[in-house]
Amino acid sequence: MKVLVVGKGGREHAIAYASYHSESVSKVYAAPGSYGMRELAECVDIAANDIDGLVSFAKQHDIDLTIVGPEDVLAIGIVDAFEKEGLKIFGPTKAAAKVESSKDFAKKMMAKYNIPTAAYATFNTFEAAKAYVEEQGAPIVIKEDGLKAGKGVTVASTIEEAMEALTIAFDIENNSVVIEECLFGFEFSLMSFVCDDIVVPMEIAQDHKCAYDGDTGPNTGGMGVYSPVKMITPAIIEEAMEKVMKPMAKAMIEEGVPFTGFLYGGLMLTDTGVKTIEFNARFGDPEAEVILPRLESDFAQTIIKVMNHEEVSLKWNDKVALGVVMASENYPASSTKGAIIKGLDDVEGNVFHMGTAFVDNEIVTDGGRVLIVVSEADTIEEAYEKAYADIKKVNCDKLFYRNDIGKKDMKG
Ligand code: AMP
Ligand code: GLY
Repeated sequence: MKVLVVGKGGREHAIAYASYHSESVSKVYAAPGSYGMRELAECVDIAANDIDGLVSFAKQHDIDLTIVGPEDVLAIGIVDAFEKEGLKIFGPTKAAAKVESSKDFAKKMMAKYNIPTAAYATFNTFEAAKAYVEEQGAPIVIKEDGLKAGKGVTVASTIEEAMEALTIAFDIENNSVVIEECLFGFEFSLMSFVCDDIVVPMEIAQDHKCAYDGDTGPNTGGMGVYSPVKMITPAIIEEAMEKVMKPMAKAMIEEGVPFTGFLYGGLMLTDTGVKTIEFNARFGDPEAEVILPRLESDFAQTIIKVMNHEEVSLKWNDKVALGVVMASENYPASSTKGAIIKGLDDVEGNVFHMGTAFVDNEIVTDGGRVLIVVSEADTIEEAYEKAYADIKKVNCDKLFYRNDIGKKDMKG
């Protein structure tokens, strides 16, 4: 079959990789794709949010399956537009994408359907939010409603920090915030292929959201990742599936907004069981970059089977994949463009391009998170050594990375 991947980041690079390695796939296109994907996919110059352009392309090229990467494109209704034209596309409709695009919607669903999560309240004025924070005390979590690329959340350890976050949030007109109880525990990502009530779990990945070593610094889209995660046992995965993922898929049907696509559970193992931090309506980034290379089943065929409501059991390799993100020096505050990156050819593992461009015959930085180097090995210790040996081969003085990806899962 012919597959079209929508997007250009590291996640979409990994989706193109998995599509390319699917026996059922004869050709992969990516719109707009990236230079990094050039050997896997034919990149076509259509922006990810140019829905009319993508619909025409899919029709003209007899695309059998379109797979959407970015959340903002789902939130503007790419799936609705494709389905209207009878084109097969894997992703949620605009209405179902609200599990991610509105934190308030997600929290309301979890409350209504008893899906374990942090206690919360939603506010649309600064005064009311301030009064609530003062009453609850710190630590407390402030989340702006809407899509923020992982950057609209403040885990405030003091009232002052919380007030600062509220001031920033309410500087934006018509903004609202969700204020949550602060949970403590071990975070992990559980992604599933979903179509209505069919929910097929993937292997667990562990993201590292803070910018700096030791989980310090501002929240980011994710600075590194590994899969699988020893601490998350089959019993915990079962609990997460039965209490969070399947109930959410059922709840979406119940509410008349059935979900199709990758449903991402951002979960936390707490003293009182698995709790939901958030849902996303798409594959995690950088989770895709370690999970998909471990998938031995045919990726595109799996999607088709799930869309046909078939239960599938997935085959994974027994390696540990570990990825270290290289980000622009001031990320997440700002990003760089145009800094030359050398040495990628010497890297032994996989390099997925998150934010690069190809200018004047050079690969250059073009975003906040720029690339991720992923290694696979029999143990996490070996995967760590390999990934960091590779990272040292990449030459660019405008990039930084964390030194402790995967350390949590290592002995000693
Ligand atoms: P989100 O964008 O909702 O995933 O939040 C980003 C990060 O903030 C999460 O990955 C957690 O590390 C942290 N976080 C969010 N909500 C909570 C919460 N209720 N308690 C503790 N940490 C949280
Ligand atoms: N890695 C977190 C996310 O994709 O939202």
